[in-house]
Order: sequence, then structure tokens, then C-alpha cells
Amino acid sequence: MVVQILILVYLLWGFCTKLITFHGDMPYPSCEIIEKLEALDEEDVVGSGGFGTVYRMVMNDCGTFAVKRIDRSREGSDQVFERELEILGSIKHINLVNLRGYCRLPATKLLIYDYLSMGSLDDFLHEHGEGQQLLNWSARLKIALGSARGLAYLHHDCCPKIIHRDIKSSNILLDENLEPHVSDFGLAKLLVDEEAHVTTVVAGTFGYLAPEYLQSGRATEKSDVYSFGVLLLELVTGKRPTDPTFVKRGLNVVGWMNTLLKENRLEDVIDKRCADADMETVEAILEIAARCTDANPDDRPSMNQVLQLLEQEVMSPCPSDFYESHSDYC
Ligand SMILES: Nc1ncnc2c1ncn2[C@@H]1O[C@H](COP(=O)(O)OP(=O)(O)OP(=O)(O)O)[C@@H](O)[C@H]1O
Ligand SMILES: *[C@@H]1O[C@H](CO)[C@@H](O)[C@H](O)[C@H]1NC(C)=O
Ligand SMILES: [Mg+2]
Repeated sequence: MVVQILILVYLLWGFCTKLITFHGDMPYPSCEIIEKLEALDEEDVVGSGGFGTVYRMVMNDCGTFAVKRIDRSREGSDQVFERELEILGSIKHINLVNLRGYCRLPATKLLIYDYLSMGSLDDFLHEHGEGQQLLNWSARLKIALGSARGLAYLHHDCCPKIIHRDIKSSNILLDENLEPHVSDFGLAKLLVDEEAHVTTVVAGTFGYLAPEYLQSGRATEKSDVYSFGVLLLELVTGKRPTDPTFVKRGLNVVGWMNTLLKENRLEDVIDKRCADADMETVEAILEIAARCTDANPDDRPSMNQVLQLLEQEVMSPCPSDFYESHSDYC
């Protein structure tokens, strides 16, 4: 059963309120959930993106969730939208952000997700707030590996398979242990129609999109693999794919890295904040990133192959602190 609980709530003020929770994932009375959802305001905002605003919702027992308010959505029937959401809600993996529920209020659509307390990888790499923890090399490897696991699960273990379409550092969320959880999978397909896609979403995620995807607007597993390769480069360099260092020179991060590697300037590629980076692993990760960002989609590895390559690289030299957190691989 994809949906264990389906609750229709008719309130005094409008019978267009509807709450669906997936897999009994929200063990709260629906009146409490709806009350909390309606009470969300400016103070609860944690961020906003291409589709709307994200809020932090705290239940009476202090259970915390992230609520995404959808500001724009594709024309179409609510039934189709809700059926597709049920599929997304059925997907569970340690490296994916759970979609726990959906609520349609008279004026808005709300998606309820796990709340990841450490925020996004984007913030970690690029926002240097007070007391912001720096990500060392072994933490970055763990993030690369976990993100690859989440994405490989979407591509190879889900039926129907899910193409993410929007892999980027702001969609990699971190928990207290800095374990990564891929968020917003399947959302682009749900909310953006194919025609409008190229012009609208490209603006938000420029730098991550595969050349053939930019041209055709057609997302495939291989366009996700390209974006994942860009994410690997972001982890190594600590630079956004739109960093002025290379954009000023008319290059993207892939071209910039290739130029530096040809000039044998590996040191200039690596983020200076990674004191514990060892050249051998860095080179191996860059090699994997290069294969992922191959201009020809057919020459890119599948996500399962990427995962295998990463596991070989990350596991083989047996970095001690890595093995502690992944003892099942020893
Ligand atoms: N489940 C969550 N837990 C904690 N913080 C979250 C969660 N989801 C989103 N956020 C925060 O809210 C911000 C905005 O997220 P949102 O998904 O709306 O935008 P985005 O990821 O930047 O772009 P896109 O709309 O393409 O996904 C994120 O950068 C992150 O800091
Ligand atoms: C890297 O960072 C993690 C988490 O902050 C920490 O546990 C680990 O000891 C650090 N490793 C090195 C080699 O600095
Ligand atoms: Mg997001």
C-alpha cells in the first residue's frame, strides 16, 4: 500500500482542505497538523527557492518538519498531482529526504518533509557564518558517497525510476552527523512543464545542467550524472559552478578544471580549507567528476557505476574516521 492513511478533513471554513500523510509518517492528529500548517509565518521561514518558500514547523511534542509552500505549479488536475506525490512519498532511503505529507489549503499547496537541522551543503560550502563548521576532506567524501547512494537509488531501485533534474548543493541537506540527504527529487517534473522548464529553471541552477539538457530541455539519468559530476567538483574546489574565477574567463567549472589540470596545477583546484586532503584521492575524485561531465551523455557512467567508483576510492585506503561511521563496509 502506497498510502496507508488518507484523511479528508472538512473544516467549517472550507471543504477544499485536504491532508494526506504517507506511510503513517506523521503520527499526529490531522487537526494538530493543519493547525500548525496554518500558523506558519515569516518567523518560521528557513529559505526559499525556485518553487516557493520553506518553513520550519514544530509540533507540540517538539517533532520538527520542513514545510515547502508551493507558489507556482503546473496547470493540471489535483488528482494527477496527488497521485505523483504518492509515488514520491513512497520512496524511502537513508540518503533521501522523506516526503511525509501533503496538504492542500484553500489558497496553497504544502509539502511536508523531514527537517534536516544542519541545512544545505550550499550553505556549508559558501556561507561562512559565525561558528559555521568547516567541511574537511573526509566529511566531503562522506557527502559525495551518500549523495551518490541516494541518487543511484532513485535511478536504479525505484519503479518507476526517478530522474532528479535538479541536483545541486542546495538540494543536498545534512543531518547532525553530516550525513547527506538528497532533497526535492521528482519535484521539477511535478511542478514545471517541459516547455517552460528550460527558461525558468536554468536561471536557478545554471552551471549544473548538462549541455544536452540545456539544449533539449529533456532530462535523463545521464543529465543527473552530469550534475552530480559538477557537485563533485564543487566539493573539491569549494567553488560554486558559477564562480567568477572561471565565468569571467568564459569557462564553466568543468572547463576551468580541465585547464588547470592540463597545466598541472592540482593545488589550485583544491579548496584551501581542506587541510586533510590527500592528492591521490583528490585526483581519483576529479577523474570520476571528469567522466560524469563528459560532453557525450552516452560516455558518462551510470549512477550505479559512479557509486562503485566512489566506493573503491573512498573505502580502499581505509581512512580510519570513515570506517567508524560505516562499519558495515569493513
Ligand atoms: N527539509 C529541509 N530541512 C531543512 N532545511 C531545508 C529543507 N528544505 C529546504 N531547506 C532550506 O531551505 C532552503 C530553500 O530550499 P528550496 O528547496 O526551496 O530552494 P533551493 O533548494 O535553493 O532551490 P530549489 O527550489 O531548486 O530546490 C534550502 O537551501 C535549505 O537551506
Ligand atoms: C573532519 O571533520 C569531522 C566532522 O567535523 C571530524 O569528526 C573529523 O575528525 C575531521 N577529520 C579530520 C581528519 O580533520
Ligand atoms: Mg531545494
